[in-house]
Amino acid sequence: MILRRLSEFDLHGRRVILRCDLNVPIKDGAITDDGRIRASLPTLRLLLEQGAAVVILAHLGRPKGERKPELSLEPVGKRLSELIGREVKFAPNARECESAAKALQGGEILLIENIRFEAAETSKESTERGDLAEVLARYGDFYVGDGFGAVHRKHASVFELAEKLPHAAGLLVEEEVRVLQTLLESPSRPFAVVLGGAKVSDKIAVIRNLVERVDLLVIGGGMVFTFLAAQGLSVGKSLLEVDQMETVKEVLNRARERGVRVLLPTDILVATEFKDLPAKRTLATEIGADEMGLDIGPDSAEHYAAALRECKTVFWNGPMGVFEFSNYQGGTRAVAKALTEIDGLTVVGGGDSAAAIRALGFADEQFGYISTGGGASLEYLEGKELPGLVALR
Ligand code: 3PG
Repeated sequence: MILRRLSEFDLHGRRVILRCDLNVPIKDGAITDDGRIRASLPTLRLLLEQGAAVVILAHLGRPKGERKPELSLEPVGKRLSELIGREVKFAPNARECESAAKALQGGEILLIENIRFEAAETSKESTERGDLAEVLARYGDFYVGDGFGAVHRKHASVFELAEKLPHAAGLLVEEEVRVLQTLLESPSRPFAVVLGGAKVSDKIAVIRNLVERVDLLVIGGGMVFTFLAAQGLSVGKSLLEVDQMETVKEVLNRARERGVRVLLPTDILVATEFKDLPAKRTLATEIGADEMGLDIGPDSAEHYAAALRECKTVFWNGPMGVFEFSNYQGGTRAVAKALTEIDGLTVVGGGDSAAAIRALGFADEQFGYISTGGGASLEYLEGKELPGLVALR
């Protein structure tokens, strides 16, 4: 996909609308991981250096058209201001920013309140989205799409707005696409994909596409139990998606046909309650009826890590267990550590996985690339056309 590049334009003296993904985790009013804000800085810096005035649009959470104070972008604006070392003005009402936007001088920044407070942003009706985009388009004369994490959403500020103005992809979007495209087209081999997280149904499309391309598929997280159940094992009270069992069998058959190695855990850490209580290790073949699996076991973690260390390219999305519980971090930690030891390209995809490695004390620099996109990077790897990228072609 050929995206219009920022470097093709001289934006001096222009008023640029910059769509970022500033959807960061916030707990009790404090940002717990500012990775996405940091990832937005290079494009913002470039625009400011060029002398553009910048109007930033972004979303936070899923307020569904309601004005929810806990989902205000105001704290994000404060953090952005600290990181960029300049004032970030704030506009509380997305539909009434015309005069504030037009008053901006070159080198100034205006952040508009959570665009999802406007129901039209995420509306299924293209006319409603188009009407909102019409209003937003008045705030600038050029559009830069840099919110990679949201490019899979056909939303007004991601899709319709880009079509209304001359546009280009931001540096983050360009880099994300370059890295993910390498995984699809020319990965050094062996190429492994590690998928975790709760649900098979969220990941099945990407698994289907990637099983055609990878040498090794490593499965962890809640998804494991649907795979184990598909092989006839009892999984007790663990997460199970019965309606996905047939699909999982098809994927396993396809992997066998293609000679793709699939790793599933042979041991599991279980508990009888979903609580951070000391774990019990059991064999995957022996999960009790009243037990639920909360992490892969230590033997599996070691086995996974050894297999990954042999690879030249690894894409990882989704924790191996409930890493938020200190007793169930082992699997995720082992995979993260193995990735840091690989001599090749390692890509960590998804807000959750990125948050997991940071929470476990790893530094971003220990990995080849940390994608800011969760759903977006998965949908890219599924081979789907993403509206926010289509609009920037
Ligand atoms: C994300 O967190 O993956 C992006 O910001 C997109 O958010 P969404 O899944 O609510 O559209």
